[in-house]
Amino acid sequence: MIDKAKLQIGENSYEFPLIVGTENEIAIDIKTLRGVTDGVITIDAGYKNTGACQSAITFLDGEKGILRYRGYSIEELAEKADFLEVAYLLIFGELPSKEELQKFHEDIKENSIVDEDVRKILDAFPKSAHPMGVLSSLTSALTAFNPSNDKINNIDYQRTKKSLYDNIVKVLGKIPVLVSWAYRKKLGLPLEYGDNSLGYVENILKMMFKKPNEDYVPNQVIITALNKLLILHADHEQNCSTSTVRIVGSSHAGLFASISSGISALWGPLHGGANQAVLEMLEAIREDGGDTKKYMAKAKDKNDPFRLMGFGHRVYKNFDPRAKIIKVAAYEVLNDLGIDDPILEIAKSLEKEALNDPYFVDRKLYPNVDFYSGIIYRAMGIPVEMFTVMFALGRLPGWIGHWCEMRLRKEPIGRPRQIYTGETQREFKNISQR
Ligand code: SDX
Repeated sequence: MIDKAKLQIGENSYEFPLIVGTENEIAIDIKTLRGVTDGVITIDAGYKNTGACQSAITFLDGEKGILRYRGYSIEELAEKADFLEVAYLLIFGELPSKEELQKFHEDIKENSIVDEDVRKILDAFPKSAHPMGVLSSLTSALTAFNPSNDKINNIDYQRTKKSLYDNIVKVLGKIPVLVSWAYRKKLGLPLEYGDNSLGYVENILKMMFKKPNEDYVPNQVIITALNKLLILHADHEQNCSTSTVRIVGSSHAGLFASISSGISALWGPLHGGANQAVLEMLEAIREDGGDTKKYMAKAKDKNDPFRLMGFGHRVYKNFDPRAKIIKVAAYEVLNDLGIDDPILEIAKSLEKEALNDPYFVDRKLYPNVDFYSGIIYRAMGIPVEMFTVMFALGRLPGWIGHWCEMRLRKEPIGRPRQIYTGETQREFKNISQR
């Protein structure tokens, strides 16, 4: 069994221990590298080959298209589980008993009131504000209204554990309210509160969609679809936004502030913002006469900044297992709702062409989680600017789980090194001499 890595620099040879995970992934532990080599570091733009931590939450294998939360396959969870029990699993490590889930939901409901003064902050935003910017700002503002002690220390683990639990249920209780407020503010609708008699996912839909002076009529197809979409988005190990939450939390910033940073990272079109960008791309292709070949050529043209949104992935060099599940769900939802959405046909032809095009095949670019999700959100009546907000709602348990894991393991503050490539020392000259 190989248990060491050898590094040769010039005449000198160094050995470093290997870390092997429960799925036989191997890492070289280089924590002593700089010290033993008198300052040599590694560099890896975008951390494509660099592990930031060891984690027990999610396992994915990009080559085989495998995704598991705490050992349970995404296929099983998406088919059989309820989003709140998946949230519990990701955060606490085990699926809850019926009583544990009931208490978790009760605690979340008890912590779902948002301070009325938060409405004043919301009112200060222009209607044109992107809901991801609103959500990130309001999430950070929650700290001001919940000056809770996010101090995770070992002085009194039980008290600390309780305060951590209290913050977890506050996040899961309050952020769906902020999501519905951001949505309703954009439409000029009165801000709704939840209905504690409903399930977690159904309540989110009611808060968002209940029309003034009308009874809210639940649609089981939409509830089932949203439950599945939230589960599929719940975690994805060290993606850009989760790594952001971990590094912000590593400075001992609170849970709300850390999650606010994750929302901002998710907003980018290369990450969670891709689901909005996919819909805008499909709409543009439709308006351009549905000429998918023209857009395929643009995506392959190095001089054209256009990329085929919803395609490619940092880790998956096979089909994103979530994309497969969402594609089937998209058909089901459109069929059940009796919707004939022309952009679904455009998406299908893009996918078919890309899967047979050497440019995409050679680079192992497959549809990712964002390629079909927007089609379902649109069928549910969710406006395109809210798509990434729905992604954030799903990713909350993953962000919380990773934040807790990092803090409870007392991981050090994240502080990468760099290689300086600027000017060497030079003398200051007075302006008259320049
Ligand atoms: C998510 O990490 C996660 O887990 C994220 C996520 C999660 O659950 O948290 O899965 C969610 O963010 C999914 C990804 C959503 N983003 C998009 O759909 C945006 C479009 N995709 C690309 O921007 C890109 O594929 C990335 C950003 C997703 C991945 O980029 P990488 O890993 O940095 O790969 P790369 O940019 O180095 O690309 C490798 C090659 C390049 O060509 P060459 O230089 O080799 O000639 O593939 C090309 C790229 O130009 N390429 C694409 C492409 N994606 C990559 N060419 C056209 N269209 C694309 N979409």
